Amino acid sequence: MIILNINGKEAQLDVSDDMPILWALRDVMHLTGTKFGCGMAQCGACTVHLDGQAIRSCITPIAAAVGKKITTIEDVQNDKVGQAVQAAWSEVDVVQCGYCQSGQIMAATALLTTNQKPTDADIDAAMSGNICRCGTYPRIRAAIHAAATKLA
Ligand code: FES
Ligand code: FES
Repeated sequence: MIILNINGKEAQLDVSDDMPILWALRDVMHLTGTKFGCGMAQCGACTVHLDGQAIRSCITPIAAAVGKKITTIEDVQNDKVGQAVQAAWSEVDVVQCGYCQSGQIMAATALLTTNQKPTDADIDAAMSGNICRCGTYPRIRAAIHAAATKLA
């Protein structure tokens, strides 16, 4: 039995502690907003926060999350920065197919939490691990700037 804090609630999981966080979220907790893409830390679709830091949940075992807080897309609106990011995403109409977008929002929220006024270069560096096959990168950049303005 392993105890995790997921979106502010304690969850007891009867699984092996080397299970990737992504598996625990999607298959055990049925939190399917976090997506499986590559499974190899190459695409960013599985990005969640571990104590506020963006991590790749497909390669991070649940053992690494014990005593820490996991936040997923399902709970990001309860964070002031996450709320601003989601609102900006909607205003700028970022989303195309949507598959990558929960990971993009989690990465953007982690960026704006540590850097309130990112430049285009800061954004490109922070978001470079989040691939969008639909090519929404210009709108992602615009939405991050819009959220930064909103939060200023
Ligand atoms: S599924 Fe985790 S980085 Fe692609
Ligand atoms: S919106 Fe389709 S993969 Fe990014």
